Amino acid sequence: MTNPSNSEIDIVKSSKSKIKDVDFNNLVFGRIFTDHMFVCDFIDGVWQQPKIMPYQAMSFEPSARVFHYGQAVFEGMKAYKDENGKIWLFRPDENHKRINKSAARLAMPEFPRDYFLNGLETLLKMDKEWIKSGIGNSLYIRPFVIATEPAISASPANSYRFIIICSPAKAYYSGKVRVLFAEKYSRSANGGVGFAKAAGNYAAQFYPTALAQEKGYQQIIWTDASSHEFLEEAGTMNIFFRINDSLVTAPISDRILDGITRKSIIQLAEDNGITVEVKRVPVTEIKEAARNGSLKEIFGAGTAAVISPISAFEHAEEVFEIPDNEDSYASLFKKQLLEIQHNVSQDKHHWRHEV
Ligand code: COI
Repeated sequence: MTNPSNSEIDIVKSSKSKIKDVDFNNLVFGRIFTDHMFVCDFIDGVWQQPKIMPYQAMSFEPSARVFHYGQAVFEGMKAYKDENGKIWLFRPDENHKRINKSAARLAMPEFPRDYFLNGLETLLKMDKEWIKSGIGNSLYIRPFVIATEPAISASPANSYRFIIICSPAKAYYSGKVRVLFAEKYSRSANGGVGFAKAAGNYAAQFYPTALAQEKGYQQIIWTDASSHEFLEEAGTMNIFFRINDSLVTAPISDRILDGITRKSIIQLAEDNGITVEVKRVPVTEIKEAARNGSLKEIFGAGTAAVISPISAFEHAEEVFEIPDNEDSYASLFKKQLLEIQHNVSQDKHHWRHEV
């Protein structure tokens, strides 16, 4: 619910931009934030007047439920600037639907579409200098919602804060990624929250991922929690396998994030006449394909990561190196996706949204 008499954004501009201190050629993902942020509180069952204000620290009582029970969901989006200075979002309605799906699973209120889009567009226009043109540049956008009610009974909060912050970004992973197939730990379970962008899904991966990193792997490809026999997703990306000339990827489910990049790649593959099989992906099948040479590529797909080729995987102490592929699907889809996002090529599926 919103307050119809109070839906106009209350704007306080920052007195001095921080942009001159930023080295846009040496950005580390998610470290620098733009001058402004969008904030909207949910109190007494109603989303209050939205605000845009200078990016700043916020104060919450130590009893705010988000600190105790992790009642928090988020999204990842990007804005792009074309060569004529126009700003574009990519399929923002999908992010809006998904944050509300995540929120519903965590017993949090839905955020209205007009507040979401109007908030985003107003914020992006105010911070437009932070969006650099050129393929490879983008502004990463992080909408998120946290439970702010100061009360520690283990039940849904009565008050929430919806926030959008933005960070100039280049690549999330630099170069190729080596991965470990999960054998012990799990990311999600049937009936759980794996499909939601719930904050705790990510925190729970940090420890097993740190163990994988000690072994020289950047990421884990998670397997199903019950048998560890089927490959699901990488946690920061959905995963595609190219066997000969076909692509294989796991179906979305209550354990797997419904990735917007994932579904865009499935569509692009179809546009390019490439067969995509959406099916459960047995670990044994991928290992056998790696042995007999039919495994041509593995790549991850996500908003932050865009499309990240995977150069090797390990499972059961066996390491498989994936040879470079000159005509890789990963580079084809990355080029086509980025050209659509940056308004360089035709957008036949109407994915671009002008700000
Ligand atoms: C994104 O790709 O936007 C994500 O949310 C992944 C994140 C962990 C960087």
